Amino acid sequence: MKSVALRAAAVFTHPAPPHDFISLFNPLSSARQMRGVVSAVRAETTQSTTIAFRPGQGWSPHDAGQWARIGVEIDGVRQWRSYSLSAAAGQDPEITVTACGKVSSHLAHHTRVGDVFFLAPPQGDFVLPSGPRPLLMLTAGSGITPVMSMIRTLIPRRNDADVVLLHSARTRESALFCDELANLSARHPGLHVVHRITSEQGRIDLSSTADLDAICPDWRSRKTYVCGPTDMLDAATQLWHDADLPESLTVERFAVATLPAVPGTGGRITFERSDREVESDGATTLLEVGEEAGILMPSGCRMGICRTCLTPLLSGQVRDLRTGEIHSNEGDLIQTCISAAAGDCHLDR
Ligand SMILES: Cc1cc2nc3c(=O)[nH]c(=O)nc-3n(C[C@H](O)[C@H](O)[C@H](O)COP(=O)(O)OP(=O)(O)OC[C@H]3O[C@@H](n4cnc5c(N)ncnc54)[C@H](O)[C@@H]3O)c2cc1C
Ligand code: FES
Repeated sequence: MKSVALRAAAVFTHPAPPHDFISLFNPLSSARQMRGVVSAVRAETTQSTTIAFRPGQGWSPHDAGQWARIGVEIDGVRQWRSYSLSAAAGQDPEITVTACGKVSSHLAHHTRVGDVFFLAPPQGDFVLPSGPRPLLMLTAGSGITPVMSMIRTLIPRRNDADVVLLHSARTRESALFCDELANLSARHPGLHVVHRITSEQGRIDLSSTADLDAICPDWRSRKTYVCGPTDMLDAATQLWHDADLPESLTVERFAVATLPAVPGTGGRITFERSDREVESDGATTLLEVGEEAGILMPSGCRMGICRTCLTPLLSGQVRDLRTGEIHSNEGDLIQTCISAAAGDCHLDR
């Protein structure tokens, strides 16, 4: 019935399909791509901005700690990145973006109320435990965003909450959500916040348990969430492993952990459908090489989770940068965001 109505409507909206025509008036209405309209923009620091948006049809409410793929048009090209939803569960979604590259700088410095985002539904299993447990949150830089959602969800609602947040920031000025955390911890004895200003105090040393023992003596009995730079995540994983507590630690990565580059690898990548050939080293991802060459490359998380970037390999071989595994079967679906050329290769893109 709906498609009959749409076919009839197409007569009046030609040359634009009815969905595109409707979206001229209601930017959230699109059967093809979920969208959201920016409802508020708030500077957190000079480099970080919180953006609230009202999602359209197809969105599902997020659990505290989850993330979503966000698409924005920059210079006429739709770019996708992943952002943790920093608002409490049950509230309108927000992201807090720290400017560090192309898309984040655009979002943090140029987003205005009324702008339209492209969206994919919330996902991720970096979420609160199902039952009450003492928690330790270890965060650094923008890695605090999913944890902020957890704290905003848990602390005002649960009298029995017991959360220690140990957050590292390079300077006091760049520490995210400082005032809000101070207010929350003043009002709720179940939240204890420790800031580590690394330009003054140095980084927390996770190569041994000494720093943790001093800051949070009962860390072994807490369920721990960690989100921050790769070296911090790797050190925490090792420390909890050595303490025989790997199950107590939940890690969220904003960037993929790759093996060291293999010298002398790489090759000529042919993007068949785009009719482009590019020389590449063995460390740059096929996704980055394609984007750099101006080829429209699908992407989402850019770290091997969402599989949005799957592209058939026509011939040649590529290396999975996380595991070192070589793929060389014709027709193999390659995750371009975590694969690089391992010799000449042809992609169906
Ligand atoms: C699950 C998930 C959740 C995320 N949540 C957030 C979030 O809440 N807030 C946020 O700001 N970013 C978040 N990110 C990172 C975000 O997706 C982008 O990678 C980041 O904004 C950089 O994109 P860009 O286009 O600006 O940089 P690009 O031009 O693509 O890359 C620039 C360089 O910055 C590095 N980089 C990526 N993320 C960071 C970072 N946070 N700090 C410093 N360098 C970085 C990249 O490895 C790359 O080398 C998240 C990523 C994932 C996978
Ligand atoms: S972009 Fe998500 S798996 Fe490649």
